[in-house]
Amino acid sequence: MIARGEVVVPGDKSITHRALMLAALSDGRCALRAPLAAGDTRATAAALRRLGVRVGALGGRGPVAVAGGGLRPFRRPAGVLDCRNSGTSARLLLGLLAGHGFEAGLTGDRSLRRRPMARITEPLRAMGAAITAADGERLPLRIRGGPLAPLAWRSPVASAQVKTALFFAGLVGGVPVSVTEPVISRDHTERLLRLLGVRVSVDGTTTAVEPPESLPAFEGDIPGDFSSAAYLVAAGVLAESGEVVVKNVGINPTRAGFLRALERMGAKIELTNRWMSLGEPGATLVARPAALAPVVVEPEEIPSMVDEVPLLACLASRAERGWTSVFRGVGELRVKESDRLALVASNLAALGVAARTEGDTLFVEGGAAPPRGRVVTAGDHRLAMAFAVLGTVPGGAVELDDGRSVAISYPDFFRDLASVLHPA
Ligand code: S3P
Repeated sequence: MIARGEVVVPGDKSITHRALMLAALSDGRCALRAPLAAGDTRATAAALRRLGVRVGALGGRGPVAVAGGGLRPFRRPAGVLDCRNSGTSARLLLGLLAGHGFEAGLTGDRSLRRRPMARITEPLRAMGAAITAADGERLPLRIRGGPLAPLAWRSPVASAQVKTALFFAGLVGGVPVSVTEPVISRDHTERLLRLLGVRVSVDGTTTAVEPPESLPAFEGDIPGDFSSAAYLVAAGVLAESGEVVVKNVGINPTRAGFLRALERMGAKIELTNRWMSLGEPGATLVARPAALAPVVVEPEEIPSMVDEVPLLACLASRAERGWTSVFRGVGELRVKESDRLALVASNLAALGVAARTEGDTLFVEGGAAPPRGRVVTAGDHRLAMAFAVLGTVPGGAVELDDGRSVAISYPDFFRDLASVLHPA
């Protein structure tokens, strides 16, 4: 394939969820420009509307208006809040609901109903929320919020969803919250809160948030999604010649570990036209073909690339023959939208790549023949996009069982990918 073309990536999923929710807690009318209009962020917008917040339609022409109602803006919802496929919606909403004095029910699709919620319910109970789940600590569950106590929590997992949910509970409940993680996870929430004048302090891997009196209304451009950009960058790296230009990419260092791993593999991505928006750094990325070396990724790097590991594993299969790439500490991949660890290994194997897991470590051998075969995505958007990119390798023929899941985070993915790749 020849790479040639330019793509402007859609808004960041993580930041869109957070901006919608913080706008709801603000003192007035907010205007969010270029938020992500996709399945997951629509789930958040719909849930906020059910809770009585006026949120404009995502995906229209102008900015999305959100009418903030102050720090405790919700009213008791009629019916259950359906978070569909979105773990971020479910976990962050639980944090917000913990400080509201009514009962609400949350559920999600089959994938979300199997994902662990104890990492959130345990600390929220410690703060004073009452939470009941019919089937272990999983959705569907019911939460009754109320007056909350301050919290200093040591989270066993590095998770921005956990950290953010607890900070959100602190904002609504008017109490200080600190979270200590094994490794710092993505810090979009902290950046947004600082921008809104909230006191956020970081000491090692402990982050503390002081409750503000109120949050001012705000407006701004949502940066483009690094995780979505990563697929196009990878397509540029795998191409035979040319370059792919990816514009509007958020490059927050707590998110951009993929670029650091790629660089070690021998692919130098050029960063130009740097900008800042909503406290986040961004740039245009230029990706060019590269001969790839194998990579060893350590556990402390994983939070900065957690959603890109399937893609990196696909790239690792294209590295030099005779060497094995190693991804250590990737156990969290088992509890994402699918069991990504098992499915990355089994799908790579189905495409003729020697890949295996051993405990929380993933091994991928380089030098495979062009990937040919059918991939089981289990409705997981990131698996669909990672393997679609692997399928662009010359001589490759990768068939996805179903590609519709890309609508979760990147509805125009196939169009954008096709626009930058041209037959040699
Ligand atoms: C997200 C954090 C990550 C990531 C998910 C979005 C967020 O999850 O996998 O896609 O918006 O906070 P964890 O931080 O829970 O690992």
